[in-house]
Amino acid sequence: MSRVVGSELIEDARQRGRVVFEILPGDIITDVARETAARIGIRLVDGPLERPAPVKTDGTTAMRRLMYKRSARWVAPRRGAILPARRFSKLALVGAGGVGGNIAHLAAMADMADEIALIDIAPGLAAATALDLNHATGITGARARCLGGEDLSQVSGADVVVVTAGRARSPGMTRADLIGVNARVIQTAAEAIRTQAPQAIVIVVTNPLDEMTTEMLRATGFPRERVLGMAGTLDSSRFRNALAMAAGVTPADVQAITLGSHGEEMAPIPSLARIKGAPLEKFLSPERIAACVQDAVTGGGQVVALKKMGSATIAPAHASVELLDHIRGARSGPVPVSVRLDGEYGIEGVVLGVPAHLGASGLVEVEELRLTEEERDALRRAADAIKARLAS
Ligand code: LAC
Repeated sequence: MSRVVGSELIEDARQRGRVVFEILPGDIITDVARETAARIGIRLVDGPLERPAPVKTDGTTAMRRLMYKRSARWVAPRRGAILPARRFSKLALVGAGGVGGNIAHLAAMADMADEIALIDIAPGLAAATALDLNHATGITGARARCLGGEDLSQVSGADVVVVTAGRARSPGMTRADLIGVNARVIQTAAEAIRTQAPQAIVIVVTNPLDEMTTEMLRATGFPRERVLGMAGTLDSSRFRNALAMAAGVTPADVQAITLGSHGEEMAPIPSLARIKGAPLEKFLSPERIAACVQDAVTGGGQVVALKKMGSATIAPAHASVELLDHIRGARSGPVPVSVRLDGEYGIEGVVLGVPAHLGASGLVEVEELRLTEEERDALRRAADAIKARLAS
């Protein structure tokens, strides 16, 4: 049966999260519909499109799915989902490069602190970024006062310190190649934080993430509740983006989480991922799911390879702000974060990415998800690899 496709059908598809609209043989498309599609970013494609064959599920698998019906639950923040939250009196950023600068910008726009201190050893960089941010307030109306300088004593009195300082990868390097040079940066930052901001919650972003978070724990002597590593929010965001692109839906329709290390042993968890609430197999073949997993694992490296100098900045900044939002109570529920495990998931004394609840004093509780045996093995392998790297 042929249809007249008007702009309302296109708008309806957009509202349902579609990015393509299937034109069937015989359909008549109005010019307004074409214009609407171009304007709101819907691709008109000639159909009928090939549909993935429905996946047959045996009784045991169906029963297991019903029993273990727990999704990843960490859904990307939707606009408007911000809860009334407390403001930090001072947010300090050690490292004012691409990630630190973007965090400062996002934090100022979210009005999350009275004061934002930027610190960087590059002469003038932190002061310039702070001045630049203050100059924007005549337009943005942002209330936070930004200060910048080279002296680590500026972390003094911060409620939260985000550490992004250190060398970034160049093409061909793994994150683990940075372990020696960046450990010294972490030690210097840790000494300032320990003495000048002894009550602070520290978020480590410097790579290799899990090892540098371990070093921060050791060098500050802070409890595990107050030393967190940012990686899971970034890797999960990349995983969700890959799944959304593969399935042709918006990222907001995808729930997915990655655990494990922020490196080669990253563990995206397909069994708990959902697209529009349904298991991935409903939308994607096993090969495409595997490609999305690979895309998440290599996402950071892809940016490094394109940029040649330095690594990603925008997604890591958003992913860091996501943790800040959980700490200040603007978001609820579990969020993937690197913490030292004290027996959770059967792992002891290793910093690893897991879903956890955060609050005003940092880590509240690690959430133990039901994983497949294969996924648990991936977590254990990640823990062993991190331990081995730290030992050498
Ligand atoms: C990345 C870097 C920040 O994954 O590790 O982009």
